[in-house]
Amino acid sequence: MTSAEIREAFLRYFESQGHTRVASSSLVPANDPTLLFTNAGMNQFKDCFLGLEKRDYVRAVSSQKCVRAGGKHNDLDNVGYTARHHTFFEMLGNFSFGDYFKRDAIKFAWEFLTGDEWLALPKDKLYATVYHTDDEAFDIWNKEIGLAPERIIRIGDNKGEKYASDNFWAMGDTGPCGPCSEIFFDHGDHIWGGLPGTPEEDGDRFIEIWNNVFMQFNRTADGVLHPLPAPSVDTGMGLERISAVLQHVNSNYEIDLFQHLLKAAAEIIGLDTSALEAEAKEKGTPVQYPASLKVVADHARSCCFLIADGVNPSNEGRGYVLRRIIRRAVRHGNKLGATGSFFHKMLQPLIEVMGAAYPELEAQKARIEAQLLKEEEQFAKTLEQGLKLLEGELANLKGSVIPGEVVFKLYDTYGFPTDLTADIARERDLTIDEAGFEVEMAAQRQRARDAGKFAIDYNSVVKVDGETQFDGYDATAGQGQIIAIYKDGEQVDEVAEGDEALIVLNQTPFYAESGGQIGDTGIFKNDTGIFEVQDTKKSGGAFVHQGIVTMGSLKAAQNVEAIVKADIRAATARNHSATHLLHAALRQILGSHVQQKGSLVASDVLRFDFANDQPVSFEQLQEIERLVNAEVIANTEVTTELLDIESAKAKGAMMLFGEKYGDEVRVLSMGSVIEEKNFSIELCGGIHVKRTGDIGLFKITSEGGVAAGVRRIEAVTGTKAIEAAQKADRDINTINALLKAQKEQTIEKVEAIVETASSLQKQIEQLNQKLASLQAGELLSQVQTIAGRATLITTVQGMDAKALRNLHDGVKSKLDNAVIVLAGVEGDKVSLIASVAKDFTASIKAGDIIKHLASELGGKGGGKPDLAQGGAPLNEKFATVMAELTAWLEAK
Ligand code: ALA
Repeated sequence: MTSAEIREAFLRYFESQGHTRVASSSLVPANDPTLLFTNAGMNQFKDCFLGLEKRDYVRAVSSQKCVRAGGKHNDLDNVGYTARHHTFFEMLGNFSFGDYFKRDAIKFAWEFLTGDEWLALPKDKLYATVYHTDDEAFDIWNKEIGLAPERIIRIGDNKGEKYASDNFWAMGDTGPCGPCSEIFFDHGDHIWGGLPGTPEEDGDRFIEIWNNVFMQFNRTADGVLHPLPAPSVDTGMGLERISAVLQHVNSNYEIDLFQHLLKAAAEIIGLDTSALEAEAKEKGTPVQYPASLKVVADHARSCCFLIADGVNPSNEGRGYVLRRIIRRAVRHGNKLGATGSFFHKMLQPLIEVMGAAYPELEAQKARIEAQLLKEEEQFAKTLEQGLKLLEGELANLKGSVIPGEVVFKLYDTYGFPTDLTADIARERDLTIDEAGFEVEMAAQRQRARDAGKFAIDYNSVVKVDGETQFDGYDATAGQGQIIAIYKDGEQVDEVAEGDEALIVLNQTPFYAESGGQIGDTGIFKNDTGIFEVQDTKKSGGAFVHQGIVTMGSLKAAQNVEAIVKADIRAATARNHSATHLLHAALRQILGSHVQQKGSLVASDVLRFDFANDQPVSFEQLQEIERLVNAEVIANTEVTTELLDIESAKAKGAMMLFGEKYGDEVRVLSMGSVIEEKNFSIELCGGIHVKRTGDIGLFKITSEGGVAAGVRRIEAVTGTKAIEAAQKADRDINTINALLKAQKEQTIEKVEAIVETASSLQKQIEQLNQKLASLQAGELLSQVQTIAGRATLITTVQGMDAKALRNLHDGVKSKLDNAVIVLAGVEGDKVSLIASVAKDFTASIKAGDIIKHLASELGGKGGGKPDLAQGGAPLNEKFATVMAELTAWLEAK
């Protein structure tokens, strides 16, 4: 069976067992900040397991795109070197949300694997594992399926602590989890390996093909396991692994899909694989491609799919992981001899094998290729720059270990992979200070954590049944009853003055942070106390108000008057509506490829990130500002409607990529109507102005890049926009005062100053050249003849490597056929440069002179026969070493 046939058979089998076929979700998890990439079929159902979301089915089946690179499940470094690790893979899975549990899960799995109409695997090749205390699962395997006890293996907490086990599966550090039962396939005794739980378990003989997780708990950040509302089932079978079994091969890279990709990769890179093919033919096995080619084939899948799902290479978060994968692929391609950009060409063969099941590849072809190509080209530049920097550092290196700080700087600032630095170090008999690098990394991670926006893990402290009703769309004040209070992570009945707490009401006018709009602030008050609300967030269906008791005390079950700070709310609403107008204007001016990538709507500023490869020009920004303000002036009514998702689509509402929408959506329309369509129609749950005129004035304050292919516009509205315009006026006023210019003369005067400055600059450069030439001329008097060669050896004070190089060039232009050796002393460092005229390089090489000096002085350096540079610490030997150079040159 081909992989495509297996995928389809799985989906059909579970459909025949009452499961609803659900499409793969995006690799970018919707609304889940705890997860970097979709890493299992269950991700899109997380809220169904937690009981926070109800769907109209309780059984589901899917084939899910997964990426395991970064985050809890990270296989990146293994890829290429093992038979079955991938960055991208497809997970076949069946799910029960409080419907069937262990018994049916095991029975379904067994029937699909062994049933004659399905995969018909030989039963005597299958083994099962269960969590060590799970007698129930053991008995089902043994008594109901008929698997002999010696084929059922109990696995305990083999990862160091309770519930840390191969047979206890968790999606991440928090979230749904439970014991599991895995099914193993025996690839035969011709392959080395042992059963799970034995010392040889890492071999390739017994391979896990299917994991059945019995979801029972929700783990919160404090490590506590809370029972789920109902026991559930989550399963996962890697499509690549089961394909290997059915295609009678041991490695995933030998299945149909990968053989196609590997062959294509070899052709694209220009790697001659005819010998490998001939060998495979003779042995009757699939072609055994080199590890680096497997890396390229594997990484092509994750990279193409990630870009298709809207991730672009960048320096942070998901984009950074994508960047690392692309760079790893490129490096392995280069190892195989690839020249120039090649990786983007992998999309075409990928479409050939996966395009039918995943049409997004073909649909986004141009964009994916362009992104990959751009990243490849950029990486080539990075490598070049990084190498230069590294050379500089190596020249000044004392000892044979590259300090962790340097490795980190290369990695952090230039995106220079550590393994590459280590490779280069190895080539020169140096090592890198890994521990020092880790210290720098840990410090950076800490900085990232400190700056992290999830200061409180609301999920971990608030587990409230029921929902908070939001009644704040049209009001900023209302009544609510306290249904829960939390202090220091514990639920409490009462909080008193000075206490910081989280309070949940049954209904509230406070908007909880979502869709980029910040949470409301304000107060709760009643006869017994006042609570100052500093932020409002959602946790499941509950609205959690975070703040501090500023007077008296508050108790659970009390009623409070909830009052939102209305002026802040109004300013936030202005920015939110302006964001919609900005989004629509951007699409009109720049094109419909403009997609929202992120948004922050606060009371004092709005920030909008969007996909666009180029910076937005000043003229375009002005046009965008003009368009938005034209809508503000038109002062049309802003309308909201609740529609089903299909009607919303038909209306032309803009939907956001990676966003999860319910069946009923809130549609916001605003701005002038052209051809029956408003200027802006978007799905949005946020708070908006009543009429566009309420925005007052819209002013862009900045435009810049935040990541590759993503731009950010910041803007202000209302009084803040007026302040911004006044500030611009004030600045001009100050400039005019400095220039002693009249109002209209600013530009003229500045132009004159710039002109003067540039002519002065030129004069300075000319004078500097003259100076260097004079200095060089003076040095010529020191030329002596050593071993028949005109030679200049001299030391100059206060010169760094760059200045020394300039001086050298000046000398050389006057002194043609000679050996020149200059040392520059600055602070506690010595820079060295030597050049040897072509006529003399047969007897003496510049590189050797520098190596000699560097080794005598305890420094580093090297170069070509005619020109070399180096550096060393300044020490007491310096004068002697320089003095003895004459004798050393004599002997050459
Ligand atoms: N979610 C389970 C896994 O990924 C099935 O193994």
